[in-house]
This record gives sequence, C-alpha cells and structure tokens, in this order.
Amino acid sequence: MAQKETKQATWGGRFRAPPAPLMAEFSESVSFDKALAPYDIAGSKAHARMLAEVGILTKAECDAIAAGLDAILAEIGQGAFMWDESLEDVHMNIEQVLTTRVPAAAKLHTARSRNDQVALDMRLYFRDVCDKISADVKNLMRVLVALAEKSRFIAIPGYTHLQRAQPVSAAHHFLAFVEMLSRDLARFEAVRSEANVCPLGSGAIAGTTLAIDRAFVARELGFVDENGEPRLTENSMDAVADRDAFLDFAHACAVTGVHLSRMAEDMILWNSSEFGFIYLPDAYTTGSSMMPQKKNPDCMELIRGKSARLQGNLHTLLTLAKGLPLTYNRDLQEDKPPIFDSFRQTSLCLRVMAGALGHKDTHLVPEKCAAAVADHLLLATDLADHLVRSGVPFRRAHHVVGALVARAVESGIQLGLLPEAEIAALTSAISARVEPFQHFSEADAAAVKKALEGDAWRKVFDLAKALSVREKPGMPGPREVEKRLAHWKEQLG
Ligand code: ARG
Repeated sequence: MAQKETKQATWGGRFRAPPAPLMAEFSESVSFDKALAPYDIAGSKAHARMLAEVGILTKAECDAIAAGLDAILAEIGQGAFMWDESLEDVHMNIEQVLTTRVPAAAKLHTARSRNDQVALDMRLYFRDVCDKISADVKNLMRVLVALAEKSRFIAIPGYTHLQRAQPVSAAHHFLAFVEMLSRDLARFEAVRSEANVCPLGSGAIAGTTLAIDRAFVARELGFVDENGEPRLTENSMDAVADRDAFLDFAHACAVTGVHLSRMAEDMILWNSSEFGFIYLPDAYTTGSSMMPQKKNPDCMELIRGKSARLQGNLHTLLTLAKGLPLTYNRDLQEDKPPIFDSFRQTSLCLRVMAGALGHKDTHLVPEKCAAAVADHLLLATDLADHLVRSGVPFRRAHHVVGALVARAVESGIQLGLLPEAEIAALTSAISARVEPFQHFSEADAAAVKKALEGDAWRKVFDLAKALSVREKPGMPGPREVEKRLAHWKEQLG
C-alpha cells in the first residue's frame, strides 16, 4: 500500500508528524467502508441543502457541492475513483476529493462529525439492506408455497426425535418453513423501522452551536413516520454511541440463518438414499474428486455452515459494544465488517435456497414418500384416539395400543393387520387384569373390548382419512392446508 508521508488533511492541524505507515494501515477502514459511499453521498447532499436553507452555504455553493458529489458517485460506480487509504475512511476520501474540485466543499463538514455521519450512513444502509433481504425472504417464501402447492397430495412421515411420528402432507412441512420465514420478515421490518430515525445534527457528541435545521435533513432523507413527520434521535450522546440496530440486524440474520440451516438439514436428510423423498438438481449439487458416484447436497451443507458465521457476527458485535464508555470509541469502526458479511451471506443463503428448491428439476419422489408413510405405526396415536372415542381413558388407551405396537413390531406385521387372535388374546388379558393392565377398571376393559370389536378400528389406518380428520386450525388436514396456501398466495402476491 502506498503511504503518503503527508499530514492528515482533515484533522492534521494539531499534529507535527503524520501517522506512521503501520498506524495508517492499521486504522484505515476505507478498504471496507467504501461500500457506504452511496449513503454517504446522499447524506452529504441533504446536509448541504440544509446548510443552504439556513444560510451557511449559498445556493450556488450547494449546487456545486451536489454536482461534485454526483460526479464522484458516478466515478465510484465506474470503478474510476481513486480510494486513498491514507485518508482513513470513506467519509474523508469523498470529502477530500470533492474539496480539491469544489472549493466550497470546505464548508460541507460544518455542524457535522464523522460520528453522526457514520451513524447516518449506517441507518441509510440498514433501510436499504432490510428491504433487499425482505425481498429475498419473500422470494423464498413464494418458492416454498409453490412447492407446497405441488405436494398437497403427497403424504410423508412427520418426525420427532428424527423418529417417525405422525403423517403430514409434504405441503404442511413446506408451509412450516413459510411460517418461520414470515417471522424473519417481521424482524427485518422492525430493524428497518428502528433504523429509520435521523441522527444527523448530533455532531461529535454534543450537537453544534450553529443554527441548523435537523428536521429539514430528516425530511430530505425520508426519516419520517407514517404521517410524514420527521423522526429525530432524541439524545446526541446516545445517537453517536448507539449500535442497537447493528445488533438487531445481526440477530435477525442469525435467526434467519438458523431457520435456513434447519431447512437445509431436512433437505439433506430427504435427499439421502435412506430417505429419498426429494430430488435435488445437478445445478445445485456437486461431485466428489474421488468417488465417481457421489452427488452431494453442498448447497444445503453450505447454508448450514454459513449459519455458524452469522451467529459469530452477532457475537462479535455484542462483545464489541459491551464495555464501551459513552460515546463514540474507535472500536466501533470494527462494527461494519460483521454487518456487511451478515447481509451478504444471509442474502446469498436465501437466494441459494430459493434457487435450489425452486429449480425446475427439483421434485419430491412420490414412491419414496408413499413407502415411508405406509408404516402403520405413524397412526398408533389415531388408534388410541379411536379407543378414547369408545370411552377408554387416554392413558389406558395409550397402554393398550403400546401393547399392540409391541406385538406388531415383534411379529413384523403392520399394526392394522394384526390377526384377530392377537386382538382376542389382548382383550382377554385386559379383562383378567394381568400385568401390565392391573389398573384397568371393569369399565375400561369393556370399553377396550368394544373399541376393538370387528373391523372398525382397522379403518384408522386409511391414510387419506387420517389426514382428512385433522382440520382444526393449524392442523395438516387438506382443507386447512388449502386455506393456509390461499392465505400465503394472497399475502405474497
Ligand atoms: N471510520 C470511522 C468509523 O467507522 C468513522 C468515525 C470516525 N470518528 C472518529 N472520531 N475517529 O467508525
């Protein structure tokens, strides 16, 4: 890195010597905070308009500054702007170059500090990236809703403890992901609103003696409430020290990462030969350098891995802020890399998940799902419910069905196909109150016998029927799922 042995142009007046090259290299942030240039320039233009409004700049000076800033923004966009690390950060780089071209720019930093400037830039940044991430989240939600719609009639086992639990439609499973993402969306919307308050005018720590108009700048930059009233930070010390929106943004990213990681884990399992529920496309899987047969779900594994990084970024920020005395401390320059990383990685993970699951070749494998969900044990609880409907207390019913399940597993026969003789043996054991049925009352025994008479109990194992009787709010019955699908389609447009 080329180091200029010149005095620091903005604050150098007090110094006899320039920073050591090592110190300059150590303290620069322009290598990463140049990403803030569009926000910094928007903020400077609004600040200049306010300075003109209150008579600190003339209209001509203000126009020259705005034109100069626009030219710099265009050069940055074309990659033609020469960033200089000896000027520390994005703020000083832009101001210095502007001042060499527009003499009036020497007045631009009137009533402003880099402390309120960086707080402003990041608030503008958060508004922008929250909108971008919200769009990514909504896009993934749409992909999941489309998958759910296609898999309305495919039943799969739902799992607890990664053991087959009860049948659900694949649509219900995909819609569970949609619910998770809808909460992420709310979190990003909340961060946006939290960031939407203007800190400019706080100065370095204690405002300014000059007659500025804070509300004017806030309006210029869209820091307004739903009635168009300006939203201003209420305490200049808090405004330059506050990093809550950073923490909340990093938290929203970390939670989204956890959600994506859990989805990824389900897809990794479903994609394995052992499950085989889903086919993932070539475009989002990768091969092995040694084993020719391999086709690995790397997209999902990377999403799972990157979620660790998102948690790390949150932790970095919490630790960074925790011991700082009010107000601004240079430690806070370290707040930007984790935020930029969380934004980029969260957005990428959301887009990759949408790309993989929304790919034209991605599909559920109905035969594999059907084979897994044909396991009658998934409906053991429904059989207990059947006994309950005949008047058997649930705890007793659970015991009876548990005994039948044990017999089914031992004999390798599906629960609903156990021979009549097995049922008769069980009901007589219950009537005789032999272990483990010694606590059954006469009425319990009679109710069990009645419930297991004939073939009615075997109908419990009709899968379509089992799903169709789960129609209370939030349940996986087809009509409930249909309702939720309609809800999301309307919400997501
Ligand atoms: N580059 C600095 C940062 O990101 C800007 C604020 C510098 N303020 C200061 N008093 N040195 O935090």
